[in-house]
Amino acid sequence: MLRVGVIGMGPIGNLHASIYQEAAQAELAGVCDINTERAEAAGRRFGVPWFPDAPTMLERVRPDICSITTGGYEYSSDHYEPAIQALEAGAHILCEKPICNDIAKAEEMVRVAKERERSFGLDFNHRFTPAAYTAKKWLDEGRLGTILFVNMALWIGKPQDPESPYFHIKALNPHSIDIIRHFCGDITSVHCLAMKAPGRSIWSTASFNFRLASGAVGHLTSSYDIGRGHPMERCEVAGVDGRFVIEDMWRQATLYPASDLVKQVYTNPVFGGYRGFDDTFRARILKFVDQVAAGTAPGEIDGSGADGLAAQKVLAAAIESIETGLPVEVG
Ligand SMILES: NC(=O)c1ccc[n+]([C@@H]2O[C@H](COP(=O)([O-])OP(=O)(O)OC[C@H]3O[C@@H](n4cnc5c(N)ncnc54)[C@H](O)[C@@H]3O)[C@@H](O)[C@H]2O)c1
Repeated sequence: MLRVGVIGMGPIGNLHASIYQEAAQAELAGVCDINTERAEAAGRRFGVPWFPDAPTMLERVRPDICSITTGGYEYSSDHYEPAIQALEAGAHILCEKPICNDIAKAEEMVRVAKERERSFGLDFNHRFTPAAYTAKKWLDEGRLGTILFVNMALWIGKPQDPESPYFHIKALNPHSIDIIRHFCGDITSVHCLAMKAPGRSIWSTASFNFRLASGAVGHLTSSYDIGRGHPMERCEVAGVDGRFVIEDMWRQATLYPASDLVKQVYTNPVFGGYRGFDDTFRARILKFVDQVAAGTAPGEIDGSGADGLAAQKVLAAAIESIETGLPVEVG
């Protein structure tokens, strides 16, 4: 049984902890938060020891796996310190997105995990759905042929302006960049145009164009200005032999073969299907537990720290593009 510790007991840390309690191959062994009220409340809720900081939890609990569910500036500045502490204590880590708002620190997180031969997963939960697995299978079977383009859209109403002008780009879009990379490979350059919607102080709506390493091209429209309740995410990938569209992560995936007017559709089933967004976390977390339990090589982890770093580098290039008005090579 893998022993699990969760670091950072906000809403997302509580969700991770509740999912580990369902895992067949893992047991929640401790939680911590520098906000002791949150730590204690979570400890009581889950019936596990709670601690006021990560080093104490790591020493007393000796977890095999740690979820890093801290937040901070740009929803990610607090990930670095406990991630390094957990890796140095010998734990595999599953870190919330974004990996880190600072690229140099994100690079170090990936480097330390590699040096210590620990698995490093990122919570790229949007790719862990039956609809996304179905689409990936179509791709791997060659049903699309050579990829031509990807069209991605991600929007979610977030009316309050966070502190950072780039919060929307850096904190929301790791998901959309990861989906594009997951299906279509590395992104080599980006041109991003953005606007501040009326009354806003942050770049709240953006339009990105991409060049991919394969030679294919891509686009992403992203916004914090569209109300919740609308469809939130759409991913369309087209090749010379066919095209697929995934609607809202888990709701539907449709394959449009180029040579056949009959399409193929996966629809989330009423019985046994996903009931909501939390199910994407469940699938992602349980996959990480399965991969660690199976002894999967750290370099083979689905949705890895290295993927998180790659996504953040694309977003850094997008921000440079907003500032300069020019296309930017991804560093
Ligand atoms: N994958 C997704 O779809 C998704 C959705 C929402 C949020 N998130 C991510 O989840 C993370 C957490 O979100 P939240 O809303 O729960 O944040 P939050 O700010 O409410 O909670 C974070 C907690 O971490 C604690 N913390 C900070 N540094 C710590 C440290 N060194 N040791 C122990 N505790 C520490 C804070 O005191 C706080 O209680 C963010 O990175 C966010 O981007 C992911």
